[in-house]
Amino acid sequence: MSPAEIRQGIAELRPWFYRFEFGSGIETMPAIPESVVGIFDTRLRMVVGAAEEHFGERLRDIDCLDIGCHEGFYSLAMARRGVRSVVGIDAREENLRRARFVANAMGVDGIVYRQGQVETLAAQFGRSFELTLFLGLLYHVEDPMRCLRQVVAVTGELCIIETQVVDEVEGFAEWGSREWTRPYQGILALIDETGEFDAGNRETGVSPVATCPSPKALLFMLKHAGFRRARILSPPPGAYEQHARGKRVVCAAWK
Ligand SMILES: C[S@@+](CC[C@H](N)C(=O)[O-])C[C@H]1O[C@@H](n2cnc3c(N)ncnc32)[C@H](O)[C@@H]1O
Repeated sequence: MSPAEIRQGIAELRPWFYRFEFGSGIETMPAIPESVVGIFDTRLRMVVGAAEEHFGERLRDIDCLDIGCHEGFYSLAMARRGVRSVVGIDAREENLRRARFVANAMGVDGIVYRQGQVETLAAQFGRSFELTLFLGLLYHVEDPMRCLRQVVAVTGELCIIETQVVDEVEGFAEWGSREWTRPYQGILALIDETGEFDAGNRETGVSPVATCPSPKALLFMLKHAGFRRARILSPPPGAYEQHARGKRVVCAAWK
C-alpha cells in the first residue's frame, strides 16, 4: 500500500482504539484518553515476557489464537515476534475490518482474522493452539466459566489472561443449615454495561451483562475450567497504574 492509501484507509476507518505506527510519521490516533493508552504497552510487555519465558526458542514453531483480538494489536505483536501463525477472532466484524487493514498496510503475513465468539470457540476451531491470548475480555462476558472452558479446549500449552478484577470479598455462605457453611472462593461482581452496549461501543461483550472476578475467583475458575496451574504475574516497573495497583491483572495459565 502506498502512504496515500494508508492515510486514506486510516481516515475511512476512524475512530481507532490503538496507536499503530506505519512509518513516515503515519499513525492511528487512539480515541481513548492519553492517560489510559499506557495500558496497551504494559500488557504487551507482560504477554511477550510470559510467552518468551515459556516457549523460548520454540516461539517460532507455535500457533497463537488471540481471542477478542479487536484491531489486532496483540496478534500483530505476536506475528512480529516470529510466531509461526496467528489467528485473531473477534465478535465484531467492524473491529476485524480495521485489524485486516493494519496487517495489510504493514505487510505482515501469517495472521488470519475471523469472526467468532469465545462462547463457541471449541466448535469453531476443533483444534488447539500452543498459545492463546484472552486479554481484556473475561470481565465483559456474562458466563465466565463457560468461556474459560472454551478457552481451555483450544489451548495447547499456555494461555495468557488479562482482566479487570474487583476487590476480594472473604466470607462464608450458609449452605442448607445454620451450621453448614461454605467459604467464598472469591467473588464475581455483576456489572451493567447497558449504556456502552446500546451506544455501540466496540469493546463490550456481546450482551450488556458483565461479570468481573476477584483475583481469588479468577484463579479458582481457571483451575476448575481445566488449567493445571495458574499464576498472577507481577507487573513490571513503570506499569500502567491499574496493573501497578492490582486492579487489573495478567495471569499465566498452563494446560
Ligand atoms: C475490551 S476489548 C479487548 C481487546 C484486546 N484483546 C485487548 O486486550 O486490548 C474486548 C474485545 O473483545 C470482543 N468481544 C466481545 N465479546 C466477545 C465475545 N463474546 N467473543 C469474542 N470477542 C468478543 C470485542 O468486540 C472487543 O474487540
